[in-house]
Amino acid sequence: MDLGLAGRVAIITGAGRGIGLAHARALGLEGVSIVINDQDSTAAMHAVEVLSAQGINATSQTGDATDPEVVNQTVSFTLEKHGRLDILINNAGIGVKPASEVEHMPLSDWQRMLHIHLDSTFVWSRAAVDPMRKNGYGRIINTSSMNFTGGGRPGVAHYSAAKAGIVGLTQTMAKEVAKFGLTVNAIAPGYVATELISQFSADMMDRLKKQNPAGRLCLPEEVAALTTFLASTHAGFINGELICMDGGRRDYYWG
Ligand SMILES: NC(=O)c1ccc[n+]([C@@H]2O[C@H](COP(=O)([O-])OP(=O)(O)OC[C@H]3O[C@@H](n4cnc5c(N)ncnc54)[C@H](O)[C@@H]3O)[C@@H](O)[C@H]2O)c1
Repeated sequence: MDLGLAGRVAIITGAGRGIGLAHARALGLEGVSIVINDQDSTAAMHAVEVLSAQGINATSQTGDATDPEVVNQTVSFTLEKHGRLDILINNAGIGVKPASEVEHMPLSDWQRMLHIHLDSTFVWSRAAVDPMRKNGYGRIINTSSMNFTGGGRPGVAHYSAAKAGIVGLTQTMAKEVAKFGLTVNAIAPGYVATELISQFSADMMDRLKKQNPAGRLCLPEEVAALTTFLASTHAGFINGELICMDGGRRDYYWG
């Protein structure tokens, strides 16, 4: 199936490794030019090397995804270099460490989590509308998590609230920009095998696999396959959706 992605241009936040890098590879192999944002310059440069070795047109712009200056510079860079912006994947995020029940959670931990996930999704999405409207084509894909649907596990209210907020932003913005030929969707993966969850003990990893009906974690490439379809011309009437992918688990209470 021709996904109609060749010649398009994507910005992916937090694409130095993990799920973001998988998004970059999957889209790049479809002929999309990739602009990587990551605050880790070493990871970003390594990602460009890896992607370039696969024949993908990839460049990076280092910076904190929450900083509106970084957002504006990266969008300007993309438009100067490629002349367009078609796809934005808001992926940058951090793990739940330190986890803490609400009663004991410092306000600073709460605010940091919302800032990194929710504020960054807002600032990038806001900056993407104008260039995408000029194309008459745009796909914004936001990263939520199964750790909010049905309530996250105890200790992660900050992460759960941030990921829930992303869904509210997605659904409202989807209605605002549909008239320009743009879509805004969110994906909610279950546990994905990346460094983000490498903080878990071996025992915890084992439990997570056993708790999943599929008996394993999700792979970054599986998340990227969904994103690639959502970015394609075929997904033009999928808008404002939260698409869950967790192997059928659904219940995230750890007990
Ligand atoms: N791994 C999982 O189990 C899982 C499940 C559901 C959702 N998610 C979400 O998927 C996204 C990617 O997760 P991952 O597992 O690939 O994580 P990861 O830790 O492997 O990679 C995250 C990348 O984002 C970058 N980053 C973090 N904060 C940033 C910032 N402020 N500015 C710029 N770059 C920043 C990091 O440097 C890193 O390269 C996150 O939003 C995460 O919440 C992950």
